[in-house]
Amino acid sequence: MRVLIVGAAGQVGTELVSCFPDDDVIAARRSDADLTDTEAVRQLVHAVHPDLIVNCAAFNAVDRCETEPELAMAVNATAVGVLAEAASRCDAHLVTLSTDYVFDGTKPEPYVESDMVNPRSVYGQSKLAGEVLAGHDSTIVRTSWVCSRTPPNMLLTVLRLLGGDDTLRFVDDQIGCPTFAADLAGVVAELGRRRHAGIVHVANEGSVSWFQFVQEIARQAGHDPSRVEAISTADLVPPRPAPRPANSVLASEVLATLGIAPLRDFREPLRELLSSLL
Ligand SMILES: NC(=O)c1ccc[n+]([C@@H]2O[C@H](COP(=O)([O-])OP(=O)(O)OC[C@H]3O[C@@H](n4cnc5c(N)ncnc54)[C@H](OP(=O)(O)O)[C@@H]3O)[C@@H](O)[C@H]2O)c1
Repeated sequence: MRVLIVGAAGQVGTELVSCFPDDDVIAARRSDADLTDTEAVRQLVHAVHPDLIVNCAAFNAVDRCETEPELAMAVNATAVGVLAEAASRCDAHLVTLSTDYVFDGTKPEPYVESDMVNPRSVYGQSKLAGEVLAGHDSTIVRTSWVCSRTPPNMLLTVLRLLGGDDTLRFVDDQIGCPTFAADLAGVVAELGRRRHAGIVHVANEGSVSWFQFVQEIARQAGHDPSRVEAISTADLVPPRPAPRPANSVLASEVLATLGIAPLRDFREPLRELLSSLL
């Protein structure tokens, strides 16, 4: 199989490259094709002629998306449609990554694939538009709070902050599932191999607030967790431009039907990653 990974330098893309040991992997970065350049994207797919395309690229800066909505739509939506069209021309299957931010966060329970979407931010709206443009034949993998050894991400930011003396303040009223890119990539690859059509939620088990997650990082990294202070979203100075869902815990009603085990509790891959980083 020829596998084209788009966004191969990002967190998920970096881990995904090693998930196809028996296949011919082409790892494309922004320098190979900028997703805002439709013709370059078409040419890349045409030249590679893949059996499978996995799109891990995104304009992920949630707050910047509020002030750069055209760029958000170009990268997170229009480019996904271009990839879907180019994939169908060479009979390739497309897998594209999406986000928990397609939900408004008002549901008191975890969100499953069939739940109604209602994104509150430009980022969430652009990713939802990307889901639609991916089309019914593609795999859409929604995930959340991604961490890995590849910067930038919250885990690496927290480790840097813990290296200083300051108190760390994190919100205790946004709850989600921290997800480790290496665990996520294995399931993304499996769904791609199966050419699964439809939306699948893939996140590590265990839901926490950002405050609880950062306390867990501090604890596991050998720092005093009481250095982490809980605040509410309303206390953030300055306030963040993009609204975040209060609850974006993802659960899956699809993975079990495919015989794919849920990802393990996030505390395990956190431990593994910290032991290799520290
Ligand atoms: N990170 C999270 O917490 C999170 C949460 C939920 C869902 N997701 C979704 O999961 C997927 C993977 O996320 P990630 O954390 O691996 O993202 P990431 O680390 O930010 O990587 C994204 C990659 O996309 C590339 N990219 C951005 N704009 C591009 C453009 N115009 N043309 C070509 N490449 C471009 C970036 O290249 P440069 O390095 O050159 O900028 C980067 O390598 C994305 O679809 C994201 O929306 C992520």
